[in-house]
Amino acid sequence: MCAETEYQDRERPKGFLVGLDIKGKPGALDIDSSLEELGLLADTAGIHVVGQTYQRVKPPHPATFIGSGKVEEVRRWIEELDVDIVIFDDELSPRHQRELEEAFGEDVRIIDRTALILDIFAQHARTKEGALQVALAQYEYRLPRLTRQWTHLARQAGGGSARGGVGGVGLRGPGETQLETDRREIRRRIAHLKRELEQVRAHRERHRLQRRRAGVPVIALVGYTNAGKSTLLNRLSGASVYVADQLFATLDPTTRRVALPGGREVLFTDTVGFIQKLPHSLVAAFRATLEEIAEASLLLHVVDVSHPNAVEQAHVVESTLSDELGIEDIPIVMALNKIDLLTGEDDTANLQALQSRYPAAVPLSALTGEGIDSLLGMIEEVLAHQLVHVVVRIPYAEGGLIAHFYEVALVESESHEDTYVELSGVLHPRYVGPYQPYRMPDRGK
Ligand code: GTP
Repeated sequence: MCAETEYQDRERPKGFLVGLDIKGKPGALDIDSSLEELGLLADTAGIHVVGQTYQRVKPPHPATFIGSGKVEEVRRWIEELDVDIVIFDDELSPRHQRELEEAFGEDVRIIDRTALILDIFAQHARTKEGALQVALAQYEYRLPRLTRQWTHLARQAGGGSARGGVGGVGLRGPGETQLETDRREIRRRIAHLKRELEQVRAHRERHRLQRRRAGVPVIALVGYTNAGKSTLLNRLSGASVYVADQLFATLDPTTRRVALPGGREVLFTDTVGFIQKLPHSLVAAFRATLEEIAEASLLLHVVDVSHPNAVEQAHVVESTLSDELGIEDIPIVMALNKIDLLTGEDDTANLQALQSRYPAAVPLSALTGEGIDSLLGMIEEVLAHQLVHVVVRIPYAEGGLIAHFYEVALVESESHEDTYVELSGVLHPRYVGPYQPYRMPDRGK
């Protein structure tokens, strides 16, 4: 370890991880991978992980989640390693939280994966909406958990200034002015945040409508955290979106306009990274952002094929999309990213598994650019199959239908005659119905 890292580690709070292998409730990852991921999350949140342990529990202990022997073991580790924070890999109920605080004493903070993810999200929110959404999720998470560790709120929390300052798990450390508050105060803040969010959302809804009017297909990038979505968006658009080898570097959607090889323009929009055990409160808070995904013409699912758990990660993303967000009928193109890192024969097992399972999958490297042309070709092909080309002659008397066509179709040509307007363009099959009586033979396509 270099001297500088050693120095930095000494400055950071010391964290101890506790994994739970709950029988009958298998997670998406095995316990080792899950703990490794928790360690990465802790590191991203600025915690120096000094040790870990896990226990098989069935069912979780009603008071302390882990059994009394394990509590004792963790208490010994706390003393021996001078631990500041104990981090549980599963969401603790308010009662578990209280009992564990009792058991481990005043000087140790007890947090769980949810609190950690919320804290990272708070650090990384870069737009007002993102910051508001995270602050809301943090308060809702905190409300039932008000104990001695949770009775202080950062002064600047609430409003649009939650960025990095809410300190959801109080990791931002000293120097943060804190004030005592009670449940009523939190409820007041929650109500205030909700009102502010309403306003921000109304503004965004107007933008979305404008985009729909323009008829440009939207392609939403989805993927496990750190899969390379931002890097791919940069590569596709030559834009400079924030890229970092950290979990959840991207929190807010970023949208870029890109021309496909055939000339058609599309919008690529980056979305929040997914992770196993993504807190429900967070999915709920981000529902508005995630609605961007539900409205997309196509999803570009980015997978880090160099990751040992690539297949499991792809599965987590798919089940979050279908179970949490109810998204099922949007076509998906899969970007099998980071192929530049595949060197050994073993490394290609994930690539092959994913390729055989997903027909529309393209191996590529967002970093080197290899495979990007094939990806754009694949997107073009899937979009072409998804949209139908129509030529319609609509009488001026049907003004509503004419206006609607501009909203739902990508209009290619328009010519005005005495009694009707002739329009040609592409649109999703679900919008074709009302135009059937006015369709003309489509000679051009
Ligand atoms: P979140 O913000 O957590 O959702 O991450 P993301 O999916 O947007 O990932 P990001 O683009 O920030 O990339 C994560 C890390 O992977 C960065 O260090 C990138 O440089 C690296 N990376 C992305 N694509 C490639 C690739 O094709 N090859 C290699 N070697 N590294 C890559």
